[in-house]
Amino acid sequence: MFKKYNKVLKEDYEKWYAEHESDREETAKDPMRLKFHLMPKTGWLNDPNGLCQFHGTYHIYYQYTPFEPTGELKLWGHYTTKDFISYIDEGPVLFPDSEFDAHGVYSGSAFVKGDTIHYFYTGNIKCFDRDDYDYINSGRGSNTIHVASKDGYHFSEKDLLMTTDDYPEDMSCHVRDPKIIRRGDDYYMVQGARDIDSHGLILMFHSKDLSHWEYFDRIVPKEPFGYMWECPDLFELDGQMMLITCPQGVEPKGIDYQNVHQCTAVKMDYDFENKSYEICDNSEFQQLDRGFDFYAPQTFEDEKGRRILIGWMGIPDADYTNPTVEHGWQHALTIPRELHIKDGRIIQRPIKEMEQMRKGELICTFSEQGRMESNLKLYEAEVRFRHCADMVLTLKEGVTLSYDSGLLTLDLGDFGEGRTTRCAALDELKDLRIFADTTSLEIFVNGGEEVFTTRVYSSQGKLSIDGDCSGTMKIYCLRPLEIGERE
Ligand code: FRU
Repeated sequence: MFKKYNKVLKEDYEKWYAEHESDREETAKDPMRLKFHLMPKTGWLNDPNGLCQFHGTYHIYYQYTPFEPTGELKLWGHYTTKDFISYIDEGPVLFPDSEFDAHGVYSGSAFVKGDTIHYFYTGNIKCFDRDDYDYINSGRGSNTIHVASKDGYHFSEKDLLMTTDDYPEDMSCHVRDPKIIRRGDDYYMVQGARDIDSHGLILMFHSKDLSHWEYFDRIVPKEPFGYMWECPDLFELDGQMMLITCPQGVEPKGIDYQNVHQCTAVKMDYDFENKSYEICDNSEFQQLDRGFDFYAPQTFEDEKGRRILIGWMGIPDADYTNPTVEHGWQHALTIPRELHIKDGRIIQRPIKEMEQMRKGELICTFSEQGRMESNLKLYEAEVRFRHCADMVLTLKEGVTLSYDSGLLTLDLGDFGEGRTTRCAALDELKDLRIFADTTSLEIFVNGGEEVFTTRVYSSQGKLSIDGDCSGTMKIYCLRPLEIGERE
């Protein structure tokens, strides 16, 4: 079976895959399987990787441990879709089979140039020749690797671009998750990093040809903000440069930073000519999600020019759990979201294609007198408030979203497997768009200004609203994604 610190070749995987037929059948029967989210067939999934659209086809790769639901050695799994409704599970594409990535094909991204997709990822290496490594400042290698493809399915040889020795001297061994941004004829790569004083930051590298890279600059917060920044993504959105990154080790502050690790966005008017930038105070970093299970998102621009984000509906090192592990699998990707800027902040909305998942519509008007109730388990609900002083919306049996005195609170009751409550402060509650899958919720608030993404394990459907509020609710049944296999 998968040995954590051994290379894995494609042939090994194929042999083990054949041996796991009955596990796949068992996992498929799990009632907690999601209906409209991408999951691993068995095993573990984490970050979305290499997101791109190429000749019409969207490629969604992801961090994947195929047979162990608690996540061990990572390779890249691969889904494709043309419409975000029907998908093909293409099977894994990148294996930890070389000297540079033997202990994990870690996260990375795709950059389309002409007729080629260029991928950049981190090859993880752990050393075992001594027993005094701390694996922070010693005993670990983070290699930056390039592969290219003419179709998204077949890959060139792995090309080692940079090793730990190529990063600035004051870095720890933790440098990873390359993402590319182009400015004119120049290419820049951002990587997440932890320095030797355990402060999180971004390293930037420069290249003229995507093959030769040199250290360029670093982006640091005004005050230390976490010990490590993972999965950086620097991009332009509606004319504004934004940096998304995942700081680890930020202390909770009131209702903010309640998860063990964060996903934040910040305006980043980086001046590439003068290597200068301004960064807001740490208190102004936007939390991209308010739920329990959102981390390591990645964005890309599709052929329509939309900036689409897909996140990992999960988080590392949390003390809450997922009972799906007993059924041989864990975690999923979020639904894809289109991003825009409003008042200098990112807003997220489900991509338009999600509307095609709807199959039937129920419209209810609610007011002080009339309450509505339904027992749907799988639904999309669009709520528009005419007024809302306070309200309690039951999303599933025992799971509520309530609004009172400017605070919106998600309460998973007895169904969170350790997840309790999460809040967002709002001046006003105007609208909600809720996607309820069998064991997940994605709640878009006020046109996507705040989002709550979470796993939840209440198996009884219930949708009802109560309180000093009025408005309309449209409820849609949703059909499941179609997921086929590559022959
Ligand atoms: C984020 C992350 C990345 C890393 C990958 C390994 O969840 O820790 O920094 O590349 O996962 O699976």
